[in-house]
Formats: sequence, structure tokens, C-alpha cells
Amino acid sequence: MVTAVAQRLASQRKEIDDTLATFTLSTTQLQEVKAKMRVELERGLKKDTHPTASVKMLPTYVYRTPDGTERGKYLALDLGGTNFRVLVVKIRTGMRNSVRMYNKIYAIPLEIMQGTGEELFDHIVQCISDFLDYMGMKNTRLPLGFTFSFPCNQTGIDKGDLVSWTKGFKATDCEGYDVVDMLREAIKRRNEFDLDIVAIVNDTVGTMMTCAYEDPKCQIGLIAGTGSNVCYMEEMKNIELVEGDEGQMCVNTEWGGFGENDNIEDIRTRYDREVDGGSLNPGKQRFEKMTSGMYLGEIVRQILIDLTKRGLLFRGRITERLKTKGIFETKFLSQIERYSSHLWHKLRSILQSLGLDSTCDDSIIVKEVCGAVSRRAAQLCGAGMAAIVDKIRENRGLDHLEITVGVDGTLYKLHPHFSTILKDTVRELAPNCKVDFILSEDGSGKGAALITAVIDKYLYAMRFSDETLRDIMARFRREMENGLGGDTNPTATVKMLPTFVRSIPDGSEKGDFIALDLGGSNFRILRVKVSHEKKQTVQMESQIYETPEDIIHGSGSRLFDHVAECLGDFMEKQKIKDKKLPVGFTFSFPYLDFLLNPAVLLTWTKRFKASGVEGMDVVKLLNKAIKKRGDYDADIMAVVNDTVGTMMTCGFDDQRCEVGIIIGTGTNACYMEELRHIDMVEGDEGRMCINTEWGAFGDDGTLEDIRTEFDREIDRGSLNPGKQLFEKMVSGMYMGELVRLILVKMAKEGLLFEGRITPELLTKGKFETKHVSAIEKSKEGLTKAKEILTRLGVEPSEDDCIAVQHVCAIVSFRSANLIAATLGAILTRLKDNKNSPRLRTTVGIDGSLYKMHPQYSRRLHKTVRRLVPESDVRFLLSESGSGKGAAMVTAWASRLQNAFMHHV
Ligand code: BG6
Ligand code: BG6
Ligand code: GLC
Ligand code: GLC
Repeated sequence: MVTAVAQRLASQRKEIDDTLATFTLSTTQLQEVKAKMRVELERGLKKDTHPTASVKMLPTYVYRTPDGTERGKYLALDLGGTNFRVLVVKIRTGMRNSVRMYNKIYAIPLEIMQGTGEELFDHIVQCISDFLDYMGMKNTRLPLGFTFSFPCNQTGIDKGDLVSWTKGFKATDCEGYDVVDMLREAIKRRNEFDLDIVAIVNDTVGTMMTCAYEDPKCQIGLIAGTGSNVCYMEEMKNIELVEGDEGQMCVNTEWGGFGENDNIEDIRTRYDREVDGGSLNPGKQRFEKMTSGMYLGEIVRQILIDLTKRGLLFRGRITERLKTKGIFETKFLSQIERYSSHLWHKLRSILQSLGLDSTCDDSIIVKEVCGAVSRRAAQLCGAGMAAIVDKIRENRGLDHLEITVGVDGTLYKLHPHFSTILKDTVRELAPNCKVDFILSEDGSGKGAALITAVIDKYLYAMRFSDETLRDIMARFRREMENGLGGDTNPTATVKMLPTFVRSIPDGSEKGDFIALDLGGSNFRILRVKVSHEKKQTVQMESQIYETPEDIIHGSGSRLFDHVAECLGDFMEKQKIKDKKLPVGFTFSFPYLDFLLNPAVLLTWTKRFKASGVEGMDVVKLLNKAIKKRGDYDADIMAVVNDTVGTMMTCGFDDQRCEVGIIIGTGTNACYMEELRHIDMVEGDEGRMCINTEWGAFGDDGTLEDIRTEFDREIDRGSLNPGKQLFEKMVSGMYMGELVRLILVKMAKEGLLFEGRITPELLTKGKFETKHVSAIEKSKEGLTKAKEILTRLGVEPSEDDCIAVQHVCAIVSFRSANLIAATLGAILTRLKDNKNSPRLRTTVGIDGSLYKMHPQYSRRLHKTVRRLVPESDVRFLLSESGSGKGAAMVTAWASRLQNAFMHHV
């Protein structure tokens, strides 16, 4: 009898042990997990394997951890963990440990978590509203960092499309959409307050930033809470989804998805499959479902049900409570495991609070089950972490790595053994790494604020959302309309000058021409021969002449004497001094045109400021200078703006070209407008090219909200204060100077060069736009930065170089974005003029900034496509400058003149 009972007990014990043994992982198995995780990390980073990788390795656009110099007052949201929180974070200057936070926790009811996206975001905004009231801050428009603890495909620090909900969220109409947009729209819907959403941040990233603020060695963030996830600082060159090879970027691994491609089926148990099957996202987040707080209790419950069914527990009675999904929360798991087995009465009372009536044996078995499940979870996280630290160690080519992991999450914080087992596992599986773990005391809201602060410092105002860009686009469209309208033109800031050019070259032009090209970075004289045997061919020869500062800033007559002298020299060299060739004059300034000729200069722009020319006919001035010499004759047939010359040059190769833009020393655009819309010119049929002179956009204050203190400083120190304000924000003549001013200010505040400011750094013009281009090169950019900054005498550290590269990128990015907005306005106007649903067109472009800057053109094209999605735009670089186009215009002008002469 006794033996029978003993045998039964022994066999029951064995059944239980066998069941729990499926949760025991040997060192070899854990090493396998580590190796497989490593493979998935690599696959997620690589472009070609990324789409099928289970660990998505999402770029976060966080390039560095805080350095302690951040400051300011920020709002933060923290959504996706156990609690939804709204916070205000104040970071005081200069010192670490000087952060103050106020926060409030808000509930998100289940029906909202799983309702519609609109309801969810409206609820969030309602909570923000309540918080702002509570803090008395409704009218302060604060920058906001949004901790959003779900996988997002980010294309910038403030752009993130939700990949898919995880954990307990399942709101409709959110997946695939930009979370920042959804929040902005909800704020707009409420129409009660305004916020600048500066950054969207995963909780792992927020946690890393929070901890890095205390410990600069912290370069990994781990969440072991409701969900499970890790981020870490990866080398840019390994992140194939993001262009650029320099420096680092934080990658959000989303390791919770590990196993989605069936590669850990060998260690998944039937209980894991059951939990997965009953979850909101079956088949997904398999690693998360084995390791995180939201699921561990469920795994335990499934085992308990099974053991009970098999008569091994609770006297074989399955209660309603046990059948209830979610009764076993992580906190109970933690409580149960906190007590050793001989305190079974304590265990029992916890179980009783869960409605599970247990015997002493039952309690001990339940505790064993919990232990097996949580131990495996900690070990799996440890194996994953070992893969990460080893990868970082190898990235850096080190034999030994010391690194800190910032950790947050209820499982890690509340469970009595989880952290110890995790650390032991990492130590065992990554013996060449010394890994410290520090707990994030303040949650990830502080980190989100810190990220916001790092970016916000100075340059926040230079980053535009697409929404702002669309707004600028609309403003520019209004300016164009004002310039075109008869009543509004006299006071319009964007002048919209008619050019009397009515079409692009038609292929019939021919002749021998001279072209002058004045106003860009070079003064050039060209000879353009257009012949017409079978096919139109163009032959060009050109020479560059100096235009010394004292001449372009001296008297007008001296300037034109100089131009005439250079022309004489050129004709001499070409041996055509005895001929009277037709001359086309590319004059890259705003002038009024009366049937091509004369051309009255409205105002100098850019570097020019010769006296006595504004308001005068430049053709007359040049003719006078030529006549004064008396050694040759010239027939100035046409004056063209460089934008028009560029459009014509490109139009020669591509009949579809109807826009010309310059992004060089200055910036400007021309395009073909319907004559019926041009009130200043008579006639309604056909089209005419309009020189917009968009550089003056903003001169009436329209752009004040986006101009920064640096823009104002540039303007004050320029030759034409108060004028060409748009040009001063975007074009090559000012870009280097903008960067220099930012660097001076940052250095003054001790944020760069250890506060060193040298006389060179303080000298206007010492930092040129070509330096911006060099520093932004992806391969050698940082070396260039070092060279250039060293020449300025500031002894830059590596961090300084990275920061300067970042400043350059923000300034040049802003330029490309603004041009995309104004160009976008022209394109939508063209489309409306044609009354067609899609615009197919070609834009001819020239200018040193566009040509030399390594990223500029790509960024411009991309933004234009985003802003004007209903268009197919070809960007055609003018290879041969605007001289060829000027010759084309000259060809018509001479034909016109001949016809006119014959007529008389
Ligand atoms: C909090 C962080 O401390 O921890 C959140 O502020 C994070 O951003 C959370 O999501 C993770 O833990 P849990 O257990 O709440 O999911
Ligand atoms: C040249 C054109 O290629 O580009 C000029 O021939 C034009 O007409 C110039 O003014 C604009 O670029 P930048 O950089 O020289 O001002
Ligand atoms: C889930 C989310 C992830 C988050 C983690 C921890 O895995 O997908 O983005 O970091 O939970 O909250
Ligand atoms: C300035 C001039 C404009 C010219 C542009 C590009 O904006 O005012 O006429 O087209 O520079 O060179």
C-alpha cells in the first residue's frame, strides 16, 4: 500500500519534472540561441536580408548619447509600457544630475487600446491637455519627445511609421502610418494647444539615454517588462538602411520578433504555442512571448491547466479562475518566487488571492513552474544580450569590451531572480565582455527629453516637418500669385519678372555667338557656335576672368570697363576683334526686361554692389564702355538671367524642360507661365518664361517664424540687409557663414572645442560652403572636418568633428528642404495650369552648391517627390553652364531683329 502510494507519487513527480525539463536549457542550447540571434542581427542590418529578417534592427536617428550639456524644458509622453505617462522634464545647464521631472500616470482603457487609432490618439491628447492644465502650462508651446514603445520604421528622428502593434495594443488604422502625424492630427483636432513634436523614441532608446546621462559607458538599452527589447549603438557603416558611413547610430533591435522565421522551434514548448495562439498577434513576437512580463504568467497558467488536467495539481479540478486569461500577472510571479518553499503558507495565500485553492504540495509545484518559466526567460535574454555585446566588441576590433546596459521594465525590477540569472548568463556566454547593468530610475521619459534636448539645442528650429514645408509651399504660391497680378505686383516681394522668352530651343537655332556670364561664382566669356548640318551641334570655348572685390564693389563705370576689357581680350584671343558677333549677356541679377533689351537692374544681390548701376540699363552701360575703348564692336542682342540660360541650356537636350533653377552663390528659379496669367504683359496666347527672383521671398516678413537668430545675424552683416532673406537661408554664399555662426555660439557655451574660440573662427568668411560639402562627404567627412577645424586653430576632438558634421547636415538639409518647398509650389502651379492630374516635367539645374555638395541633390529630389507626389520630375544638371542657353536666346533675338529690320 505504502509502496503503491510512493510509486504513484514518484511517477507523478517524474511527470512534473519531465514537463518542467522542457524549460531547461543547457549551455550548448543557450550558445545556439546566441549564435542564431547574432545571425538575425546581421540579417536585420543588411539591405537585402532586412525584409525577411525576424529581428528588424530599426534605425532610430539617435546619433549619440547625451554628454551632460543638454538643457531646457521638455514635455514627454511615455506610451506602451505598463503605464501611460505624461511628463515635463527640466534639464538645467551644464551639470549632470540636474534633471527635474513632474509626471502623471493616465489609464488607457482596454477598449481604447484596441479601439480605433483616432480614439487612441484623441485619448492621448486629452491626457496631455489635462496634464497641461494641471501644470498651468497650456500656453507654453514646449518641444515634445514621444516615447512610443512599439516598432517603428523611422526615416528621421521625428518620423516613424508604426510597423505593427505588439503587446496589448491593437488599435485600428495605425499600422503603416506615421505616429507623429497621427499625434499632430489629434492635437489639431482638439484645437486647444500647440506642441512641437521633436522626437519619437523607442523605450529602449529612452532608457539608454536616461542611463547614459549618468554613465557615459552606457551604450545599450534593455527593457524586460511587459515587452522585451534591446537597442544599442551600432556603427553607421553597418546600418545599410541608412546612408552615410561615419559615426554611430542607435539601432532598435526589436528582438522580440526573434523566432518568427521558425529558427527557435526546437526550444519552444507546446505551452509557448498555446500562449502564442491565444495572443493578439499569433505567430509574431515569439521571443518576446518567451521572455516578457506580459506572457510569462500566461505560460505558467497554461502549464498549470495541463498539470491539473493530468491530475497532478489542484486535485484535478480546473476552476473558472484558472481558465481566466491574464490572471497570472508578472507581479504575482515575482511574489510567488520571492518566498522560499518552506514558507508555503505565504505562497498559498498568494494563490488564494488569485482564487486558486491549493494544498501545500500544489503551492510548491506552482512555485517550481514559475521558477522554470522565469529562469528560461532570463537565460534567453542573457543569450540575446551576449550576442549583442560580442557584436559591439567585434565592431570595435577589441579583445575585451567594457560596457554598460541601461535597464528598465517591471520584470527586471520586481522579479527576485531575473536580473541575477540574466547577468550570470551573459557572463558565461560572453566571457570577453565585462557588462555592467544599471537600472533606469526615472523611466524612459527623461531619455526622450534628453534626445530632444540634444537635437533641440540651437538647431531645432532648422528642422522642418513636411507639414511646415507644405505650409511654406502654400505661402510661396501666394507670393507667386501676388507677383503675377497687376494690382498686387507693385508691392509684391517675389517679383515674377517677365523675360520675353516664349519657348525653349526648337532646334532651328544657328550662328556664331558670344556669351557673357556674370554674377555666379565665375565671370566667364564664351564663344558658342551652333551649326546645323543634319543635326544641330554646338561648339563652345570659354575663358574665366577674375572679378576682384574692389571692382565689384567700386563704381559702375569701372565694373563695365572691366567687363569690356575682358571681352576685348577674349575677342583678341579668338581673333574676331574685327567681327561684330551677336552677344548674349547672362546677367544673374534681377532686372526689368523690355522685350529683351534694354535691361534695367532693379537691385544688386549676392556679392555685387557697384555704385550707379541700380535703376540703369546695363546694356547701355556696357555699350558705353565698349564704345569708349573703340578697339572692337559688339552687338548685345539679349540679356538673360542665369536661371533662364540654364533652362534653355537644358531645354536644348530635353524638350520637356520648363523650369530652370540655380542653387549656387545665389538661388533663383524661372519657369514657363501661361501668358493669360501674366498681367504685366499683354496677350493671352501661349506662354512666357517668368524669372521669379525667389531669393527675395520673405523680405516682407512672411518667413519670420522660421528664421533663426543665425539667419538674422547673417542678414545684418550682409551687403543688402533686409533683402533676399530666402536666399540668405539657402544659398552657397551664406551657408558656410551660417555654420560658422552656429559653431561660434556653441563654442561660446562650452559645447564645442572645450569652449576654445580662435580669431580664425571669429573671422567672417573663414568657413566656406565648400567646407560644408567636404565635411558632409560620407567616407572622408570626419577627416575633412578635423583638417578644416584644425586650420581654424580649434584642436577639435572626435566628438567635436561629429557635432560639426551634424551642424553642417542640419544647415544644408534645411536649404534643400526649403528649395523643395518653393520648387514644389512652382510644380503644382505648372500642374494646375495644365489642368492635368499628373505633372511630367523636367527641371534644369545649375549652381555650385547643388553640384558640389555630396548629399544635396538626393535630398532635394526626395523631398520634392514627397511634397508633390502627383508628379514625375526629371532633374537635369546643366553641364555647360548657362552660356549655351544664352546663345539660343541670342539666336532668336537676332532673327527677330533681322525680321524687324527687313520689315522697316
Ligand atoms: C518604464 C519606461 O519605466 O518602463 C517605459 O518609462 C517602458 O518607457 C517601461 O516602456 C517598460 O516596462 P514595463 O514593465 O512598464 O513594460
Ligand atoms: C553657372 C552658370 O554654371 O552657374 C551661371 O553658367 C550661373 O550663369 C552659375 O550663375 C550659378 O552657380 P554659382 O555657384 O556659380 O553661383
Ligand atoms: C515590444 C515593442 C518594443 C518595445 C518593447 C518593450 O517588444 O515591440 O518596441 O521596446 O515591447 O516595451
Ligand atoms: C540672385 C539673383 C538672381 C540669380 C540668382 C542665382 O538671387 O538675384 O537673379 O538668378 O542669384 O545666381
